[in-house]
Amino acid sequence: MSGFEVIDAVRAPTAPVRYGAETRWLHWSCAVLILAQFVLGELMHRVPHAWHGPIVSVHLSLGVLLAALFVTRVAWRLTGGRAIRFAAGPAPGARLAPLAHGGLYVLLGGVIALGYLARWSAGQPVVAFGVPIASPFALPFALMSPVAHQRLGSLHGWLAWVIIIAALGHAAAALYHALVLRDGVLRRMWR
Ligand code: HEM
Ligand code: HEM
Repeated sequence: MSGFEVIDAVRAPTAPVRYGAETRWLHWSCAVLILAQFVLGELMHRVPHAWHGPIVSVHLSLGVLLAALFVTRVAWRLTGGRAIRFAAGPAPGARLAPLAHGGLYVLLGGVIALGYLARWSAGQPVVAFGVPIASPFALPFALMSPVAHQRLGSLHGWLAWVIIIAALGHAAAALYHALVLRDGVLRRMWR
């Protein structure tokens, strides 16, 4: 549970006790895309050369889709679209959850930003579904060297591992709520 939910409960005692359809769609579509991006990212350097280009191309298109969903999700959350209140008081771990959820947002924003920079630092556009997106700003020379390009790419790859491990911990917490605490936390995000 997040601090926002506690605040919402105080400010908006009539807020629903389940997440709305928009929040659930945003949550699960982001989760599926993050997993797909991780698999594609890990595959792209392990497949025969002829497959590398097409996999990078799908990775970039899905990456732009994920970035759009991420921006929508942050805006949705900041404007209170995700309002929810506790059905029966805060659950154990309620104070830790906002930190964990905030961390997931920061990690996701970081991995997306590094993905764009990794591409643009090679002087190439991010091509999404056939539409090229060139860098909107002139990258400083220091970021455009081959070494910087390689570092940004490998930082992006490492952060991808961090986000997958953090998401696994988050999923384990959700399952703990569902199977041990049986407090409906998973159900309210599921349906
Ligand atoms: C990469 C994958 C994932 C990310 C980045 C992620 C991120 C988040 C974030 C930031 C929230 C806070 C609510 C919001 O702002 O939308 C949240 C809530 C939630 N997530 Fe995930 N999630 C992921 C995968 C999963 C998985 C696999 C499960 C279950 C097995 C899950 C279960 C939940 C539940 C139950 C909540 C609601 C918690 C509550 O009501 O306090 N998530 N998730
Ligand atoms: C959560 C989302 C994402 C995950 C989990 C992810 C994961 C990965 C991984 C694991 C790699 C391989 C890195 C390596 O070999 O060291 C990679 C490469 C890459 N990713 Fe992502 N990525 C994500 C989002 C994005 C986004 C949003 C973009 C840009 C729009 C992007 C652009 C790239 C580029 C340009 C490469 C290098 C491709 C090459 O070697 O030619 N990624 N990604």
